[in-house]
Amino acid sequence: MRTSEIRKKYLEFFQSKNHAVIPSAPLVPENDPSVLFNTAGMQPLVPYLLGKPHPMGKRLVDVQKCVRTGDIDDVGDDTHLTFFEMLGNWSLGDYFKQESIAWSWEFLTDARWLGLDPAMISVTVFSGDENAPRDDESAALWESLGMPKERIAYLPAEDNWWAAGPTGPCGPDTEIFYWVGEGAPQGNKGTHPKQWMEIWNNVFMQYNRVDETTLEKLPAPCVDTGMGLERTAVTLGGMKSVYETDAFADVLETIRVLVGTEKYNERSARIIADHTRAAVHMIADGVVPKNVDQGYILRRLIRRAIREFYKMNYEKPVIAEVGHLFIGKFIDIYESVREHAEKIKSELSREEEKFRATLSKGLKEFERRLEQGTLSGKDAFDLFATYGFPLEMTQELAHERGKTVEEALFREEFKKHQDLSRTASAGKFKGGLADHSPKVTAFHTATHLMLAGLRKELGSAVHQAGSNITEERTRFDFTYPEKVSRDILDRVERYVNTAIDAQADVVTEVMEKKTAKASGIEGSFWEKYPEKVTVYTVEGPGKTIFSRELCGGPHVKNTAEIGAFGRLKIAKEEASSAGVRRIKAFLE
Ligand code: ALA
Repeated sequence: MRTSEIRKKYLEFFQSKNHAVIPSAPLVPENDPSVLFNTAGMQPLVPYLLGKPHPMGKRLVDVQKCVRTGDIDDVGDDTHLTFFEMLGNWSLGDYFKQESIAWSWEFLTDARWLGLDPAMISVTVFSGDENAPRDDESAALWESLGMPKERIAYLPAEDNWWAAGPTGPCGPDTEIFYWVGEGAPQGNKGTHPKQWMEIWNNVFMQYNRVDETTLEKLPAPCVDTGMGLERTAVTLGGMKSVYETDAFADVLETIRVLVGTEKYNERSARIIADHTRAAVHMIADGVVPKNVDQGYILRRLIRRAIREFYKMNYEKPVIAEVGHLFIGKFIDIYESVREHAEKIKSELSREEEKFRATLSKGLKEFERRLEQGTLSGKDAFDLFATYGFPLEMTQELAHERGKTVEEALFREEFKKHQDLSRTASAGKFKGGLADHSPKVTAFHTATHLMLAGLRKELGSAVHQAGSNITEERTRFDFTYPEKVSRDILDRVERYVNTAIDAQADVVTEVMEKKTAKASGIEGSFWEKYPEKVTVYTVEGPGKTIFSRELCGGPHVKNTAEIGAFGRLKIAKEEASSAGVRRIKAFLE
């Protein structure tokens, strides 16, 4: 079964169980600076797992783009990928274990859906600890569906407790595995860990980890499931590796033809394909190669892919061409890829050009330094600073020659460099809210009011182009062709402060995206939102509407909460880029 068909079936199945389809969130989390990329389908849904009502209701289904870099050294084997798509269904305080398990089973084994052989499937459940009891309930539900006892393994938190990070929603899970060993299936994940491959994880989110010692109950028990699209395709195709599926097979074949069969190396080709595919989606979602943050990961992936081509003696420009093949695979699935197809290719080419200009010299320099015995962290840093070698590449090169790199020393130098480049780029724009603290939330609502004031003064061609909000200030980018006079800024300031003084309520309502758009409600980035959207209206006494805007929150409930921090002061207005102005404002 092709990956496109699996995506379709999954969404269809859960729609038939009254789930609403929501679009994939962008790879880079919008309001969560604690992670570089979404690593699971639940990440963009955290506020809703914590109790906020979702505009599309309590049953959701989606295909979420994810990036995991933790296992990057395993990429090239049969199952690990940097970028992957996670099929997921959610209950936000609606159904729980019974439906979740029964539906997973139906989707996997019913001939109408995936039609997998039940004899090839085994499961695990949580064995219990001080945080939560042994999950006999899930085990009994599995048994009631016909799962033999010997196929159910009770495993500890290390295997069957799921959390996205050190804090946030979490809970015990039940995981589903498919037999990939030789011959007939045997035992379970506990007895034959290598022969059972995980295909689906159903997490019973019941807790919120606040800090190391505090585990609170969620307002309502939720379900969060994740099924890897590519692994599912392997399972259904009776294949050994994700690279045999339609997600990759033709790309590998193209690489073989390009480099020639005698030079071709399967592992290199797999790394190239995986890394380029991830790079395509990262660029589609706004990341560009840089030396820090997401941009560094992107740079590392592209450069590693290029070096893998070099290892196969292929030294011509090629990455954009490989990228083009993946663009073709995703152009009808993700709007981000469709919209940025040209940019993706030009960024890949540009980065390749840059790296190729220094790669050969860098390799020579690497050999020269290695001849002197060891490779210090300082050497590795010089290779990074002068020739653009990411540390991981130098480590890999050293490793291939049986040497190691002093990582700590590299990190010291690298940190100095990052601090410098962060200072240099401090004026650059990164989106979103720094956190969800009361002050940042107050700034967020004040920013909505500021946009409404700007639109009142400057006309409805003004739209948000980006925002960056911390506890110190709000920085707001908006579309407008010329400088805004101080006089107008004063008027905008007064507009916002009138709304703050009016102790206006912030009212939320859910409406059809189409209706919201047609009725002229202010919003940008519409394509990121599902069919139903939340509209925030700041409404003063006598039904005065101060602002009405599409948004994902969080916002204050009443503008008096902004007033508690002070009144708005617009400190600065300047050009941000062509046709875009930037305002910096404080509450004081
Ligand atoms: N959030 C769970 C996972 O990623 C479903 O495995």
